[in-house]
Amino acid sequence: MRILIVGAVVFVLVAASYNRASAAGIALPKGYEKWDKSREKIVSDKSSLFYGIHHLYVDKKAMSAYRSGGKYPEGSQFVVDFYNIKVEGGKQVKGKKNMVVLMKKDKSQKATGGWLFAGFTPDGKLNKSLDPVKNCFECHAKDAAAADYVISKYSDFR
Ligand code: HEC
Repeated sequence: MRILIVGAVVFVLVAASYNRASAAGIALPKGYEKWDKSREKIVSDKSSLFYGIHHLYVDKKAMSAYRSGGKYPEGSQFVVDFYNIKVEGGKQVKGKKNMVVLMKKDKSQKATGGWLFAGFTPDGKLNKSLDPVKNCFECHAKDAAAADYVISKYSDFR
């Protein structure tokens, strides 16, 4: 019995440190601002989760599937920067950055369609309070199951 309990405690400790390590390993890809970038998309509905000005970045691996449709190769990445909307001289312009999101094709992420979903603060820290299934994947699965869970289209990118 004692051995069982010790075993269980060791297991929990190992599992906890493993989770921490893998969560800590999630970071925004360096230099994504230099990837191919979409034109601005503006969502001015304040009740929307995506209120703001969006800049979408696509890496080289993802680009050919993005253009032609179909499955994305392992490692493909998308990043979206969100900015507040400021009105200047009657025009809507970028205010402060308010959030960054990442999708990275990773076959170990079975619960979320083989993509890692992660949200970050404007200064690039992982937002650990987001649940990748409930807060991200459910919406992507609803809107884009047929496009390997990528919602935006190359045609609205250019
Ligand atoms: C309510 C629906 C919804 C939820 C929830 C959602 N997204 Fe999206 N996502 C979208 C839409 C719509 C787009 C299309 C591009 C845009 O609007 O900027 C998108 C685009 C993206 C893209 C660019 C690739 C693509 O699919 O076009 C990434 C990366 C992304 N979302 C990550 C996330 C992450 C990470 C979360 C959770 C923190 C999340 N999303 C939650 C609707 C959603």
